[in-house]
Amino acid sequence: MAKRRTAVLISGRGSNLQALLAAARDPAYPADIALVVSNRPDAAGLALAREADVTALAIDHKAFATRANFDAELDRTLRHHDVELVACAGFMRVLTAGFLNAWEGKIVNIHPALLPLYKGLDTHARALADGVRIHGCTVHFVVPEIDSGPIIAQAAVPVLGDDTPETLAARVLEAEHRLYPMTLALVAGGQARLEGGKAVIDAPSDASAAIYSPSPEGPSRRAFGPPQGEVD
Ligand code: GRF
Repeated sequence: MAKRRTAVLISGRGSNLQALLAAARDPAYPADIALVVSNRPDAAGLALAREADVTALAIDHKAFATRANFDAELDRTLRHHDVELVACAGFMRVLTAGFLNAWEGKIVNIHPALLPLYKGLDTHARALADGVRIHGCTVHFVVPEIDSGPIIAQAAVPVLGDDTPETLAARVLEAEHRLYPMTLALVAGGQARLEGGKAVIDAPSDASAAIYSPSPEGPSRRAFGPPQGEVD
């Protein structure tokens, strides 16, 4: 199966980009990271992409008078590079409905919370303030309403008694780095897709997978989502 040409959109550090680049090095991985675009010219992730010999471009949103103008340039750039799939990875920019409708079912995002809980920013501090025992991350198709698109996969992590927003963020980030490559593979391979406004997944999910916090055997650091499965 031909690899799907994929662009990763970033705004900063790029650790999820790094995880996707590492996964895509496997010849069997169904997505080829063909392009990285940042809306911030100083994003550290741009250098990570270049080190991996991936075309990395900055499209500075400040140079555009309107959101629609920025999105039109982004759309033109993606099409110029024959991009088929878009993965947002720490891309801190709201995209217009026009852009998102054009890429419907072909654009995914990772959010650092178990959606539909904690949409928006400061998810880890808000989870701690609420005293939840389980937190995590979500990969979803992107739709115009922020952090509301159909959920493809999630990973859960325990919240520990002495957690700070930083320690919790680090635990969730570790789960993100496993969840995103696995989920992008499902989308690129066609096992996960958007149908009638819902995310449909062919890969069987393990109904026995469960996480308890606190667990009877001490804090568990396992993350769950659809099984890794083989990619073709
Ligand atoms: C991640 O936590 C991601 O879920 C959120 O922004 C952060 C980006 O981190 N949307 P990085 O740039 O991938 O390191």
